[in-house]
Amino acid sequence: KKSIDDINVKGLRVLVRCDFNVPLKAGVITDENRIVAALPTIKKLINDGGKVILCSHLGKVKNGPNEDESLAPVAKRLSEKLGKEVVFAADDEVVGPNAKAAVAAMKDGDVVLLQNTRFRKEETKNEDNFSKELASLCDVYVNDAFGACHRAHCSTAGITKFVKTNVVGYLMQKEIEFLGNAVNNPVRPFVAILGGAKVADKLNVISNLLEKCDTLIIGGGMAYTFLKAKGYEIGKSLVDDTKIDYCKEMMAKAESLGKKLLLPVDAVTIADFPNPIDAPVEIEVYDADKMPADREGCDIGPKTQALFADAVKTAKTVVWNGPMGVFENPTLAAGTIAVAKSLAETSATTIIGGGDSAAAVNTLGFGDKMTHISTGGGASLEFLEGKALPGIESADDK
Ligand code: 3PG
Repeated sequence: KKSIDDINVKGLRVLVRCDFNVPLKAGVITDENRIVAALPTIKKLINDGGKVILCSHLGKVKNGPNEDESLAPVAKRLSEKLGKEVVFAADDEVVGPNAKAAVAAMKDGDVVLLQNTRFRKEETKNEDNFSKELASLCDVYVNDAFGACHRAHCSTAGITKFVKTNVVGYLMQKEIEFLGNAVNNPVRPFVAILGGAKVADKLNVISNLLEKCDTLIIGGGMAYTFLKAKGYEIGKSLVDDTKIDYCKEMMAKAESLGKKLLLPVDAVTIADFPNPIDAPVEIEVYDADKMPADREGCDIGPKTQALFADAVKTAKTVVWNGPMGVFENPTLAAGTIAVAKSLAETSATTIIGGGDSAAAVNTLGFGDKMTHISTGGGASLEFLEGKALPGIESADDK
């Protein structure tokens, strides 16, 4: 893809689509990773003398513009991070009088942040009128919002029809390079680890990764549907009965492709799901084929931890998406911690799909031990499915 290194932005108005969809609690940003990840592109454009106009969505914006989903806290945090003023153009219509005046007043190296692009209902419908308005603010469009590249929206894709110069930023480049190489051109052995609650969320990921990897490891809530498909008693564990045949099909696919498919061999079980999620629980460990009918598996057991860690040790490339258990509960986090540790200790290239797994790796303190932690949740999953992503497809090639 053509990138910001291929153009000269001196004196030009550059609109950068970032993914500043950060978690907020009472107006306070609780995880700034996506802001930090956007800084290299923003700094480069400032240093090159561009007029840097930033935009992003935040939240789902179900009921129109509202204060809780304003990007104002992001403008403030960005200002602190950059050590310079970020002018916040707080128009509910996004491209409104404040935005236009702020952009008209910009000097080279200045930074303006537009209001939440989803405050305009056309955004998610990818309607041309809003794409054109956004395009009218700039000479150059930079897409650096990997986390939103699976969305065909005005600010992520539609706008490219109305700008002359359309490139990607450093974050987008980095994500495409790491995720792309891992999946399509991995140094082998390539081990993929999938977890999370539901098989249904990962159907195409499982199928695609089985074709690409050497070993596929399945843990987390979704593993119990596989165990049931093997004919095991899984007690009260989470199961999707509509996906039993799918799991059988995937096990047969692994066999016919000569790929290893590793499932849990033991489980940490509890009597009742904790409420709140981090409430104390009494655990008992059982082999995966001997779980009592009245217990629920909520983490991988110690034998499984060792089995998965051994597989990771042989790998040269590891991709991990989805926790191994209910890691929000300290008593049910051991499996997720063990997998994080095995990744932290290997010299293999380690790539963490975004969302829950990125949060788990960061909160457990292994963040700086990984080769790459994706900023995309849904986007990284769709990437692992091998899907064409609108935000990437619409960017110009070199
Ligand atoms: C994300 O958080 O995964 C991205 O910012 C995309 O958000 P969305 O699912 O609301 O489109």
